[in-house]
This record gives sequence, C-alpha cells and structure tokens, in this order.
Amino acid sequence: MPSSTHSAAQGLIGVFDSGVGGLSVLRALREQLPAHPMIYLADQAHVPYGLRSLHEVRRFSEQITRFLLAQGAEIIVVACNTASAAALRELRTAFPNTPFVGMEPAVKPAAETTHSGVVGVLATPATFQGALYASVVERFAQGVRLLQDTCPGLVAQIEAGDLDGVETRRILVSTLQPMLEQGVDTVVLGCTHYPFVIPLIQEIAGPQVRVIDPAPAVARQTRRVLQERGHYLSGAKAAPLRVFTTGDAPSLERLLPRLVGASVPVQALHWQQDSLALTES
Ligand code: DGL
Repeated sequence: MPSSTHSAAQGLIGVFDSGVGGLSVLRALREQLPAHPMIYLADQAHVPYGLRSLHEVRRFSEQITRFLLAQGAEIIVVACNTASAAALRELRTAFPNTPFVGMEPAVKPAAETTHSGVVGVLATPATFQGALYASVVERFAQGVRLLQDTCPGLVAQIEAGDLDGVETRRILVSTLQPMLEQGVDTVVLGCTHYPFVIPLIQEIAGPQVRVIDPAPAVARQTRRVLQERGHYLSGAKAAPLRVFTTGDAPSLERLLPRLVGASVPVQALHWQQDSLALTES
C-alpha cells in the first residue's frame, strides 16, 4: 500500500511513464490545462518498458495507478505508448470509475496527410507487439506503407538527458536514413520519449518531413474527458505539480527544467514487493 493516502484533490491529473518520456505529454497538459494540479510518476527503476513483456508492464501500470489514485488523482493519463499497449484495456476494467486517457501511435493523421504514401513509425518493441498497434494499422493504414523501427538505445539516451550528442545522432541517422531512402515523408513518434529529440529528427530528415508528436492531441482529449465529467478547471494560473520517481530523484530533478521548463522537487519512491512506497529521505 502507498504510505500516504489523500482524498481526491480537485481536478488532479495523474500522469505516468517508465521514465522521462511522459514529460513530453505533461508539458502539453500543463500548456492546455494550467489550472489543473498534476502528479507525475516516472518508473525509472523499470525503464525501459519497451523491452519487457506486456504482462510485466501491465503489473507495474496497475500498481502505479493505485498509487496515483491514493494521492487523489481523478483522471489518469497513461503517458506511455508501451504501457497503453500493455495495460490500457485492463486498467479500464480494473478501475471502472476512473477515466483513463492513453496513447496510440498517430498512424491515422499520418495516413491522412502523407503525399508519398510511405510513413515511418518509431516505437518500442512492446508497442509494436501489442494488439492496440495492430488495430490502429488495420483501421487506418490501408493503402499506406508503414516502415517500423524500434530505435534501439534511444530511450536510454533520452533518460540520460542526451538529446543531441554523438550516440543519439548515430541512432537516429541509422533509423531515419533507410526510411528517407524509401520515400518516407511523415514520421510518427510512437514513444513519448521521442518528442524530446524532434529538433534532431527534423535536422536529419529535413524540414519537408512531417514529424507527428501526439502530445497536444492527448492533452485535448484529456480536456474533453474532464469537461464531460464536469471536472474541467478553467483559468491560467499554474497549479501545483508533484513529481515522483522510483529511480534517482536528484538526477530527475536536474533534468526537469530542460524537459518541462520547471524546477520541481522530486520525491523518491520504491517498489516493495508489488506495490509502491515513499522512500524516507
Ligand atoms: N515512453 C515509453 C513509450 O511511450 C516507454 C519507453 C520505454 O520505457 O521503453 O513507449
């Protein structure tokens, strides 16, 4: 059990990912829903999720959801394509009174706007394996050629805060070059870590290639769900943000100003058997 339990805080949005990737979604949420308090959990003890089994990621996602609800979250944004692929359906079943907003690779807008008919999709191995991706492809990618790549090592580079170094560039060049040679004109970012390297992707691919970051659409969807439930808070004054990690709190704290434009103290959590507990400092 989480070591502290709060009553629901008005409009509190709970957001999680395996690490810093979901901060690209948090950034969009804070832009579009500034009056909503938010709580972000990075499960850095288990990053990367993308190389784990869907079953394991489902187990983590369920416990993280329990923790966020115990902190008072009214809505959960699964700011991770891998966790959405592994667990979104099961989370909705296990927590029927909680609204969830998840991620799916933005194949639909890509298929609608590509001129060349060739679209690159960058996501983790687990995301490509999940039923969610198969269903997105079946529904929206008819007549479009999809080139998929798992960008090995890229999540770890971004976790380390290396957004434009030699190794990060090498990974992206070896991913994008073959795609460009085959006529890709649109790249879908199917992992929430990747929006942090959009400037580098755009530099390598050129300005004519459209790169789709799903974060703004996910923030709009979150607003719609909050409005439907009568939980939407208007106003522009920035509400509090709390950040937790199951990894190294000082390291994440150092990255936050660069990744979300805010300095926030990070609280450490640890996994205790199968649930999360606050680490005493
Ligand atoms: N940011 C995550 C995603 O959107 C997971 C990356 C990972 O932990 O492998 O898929």
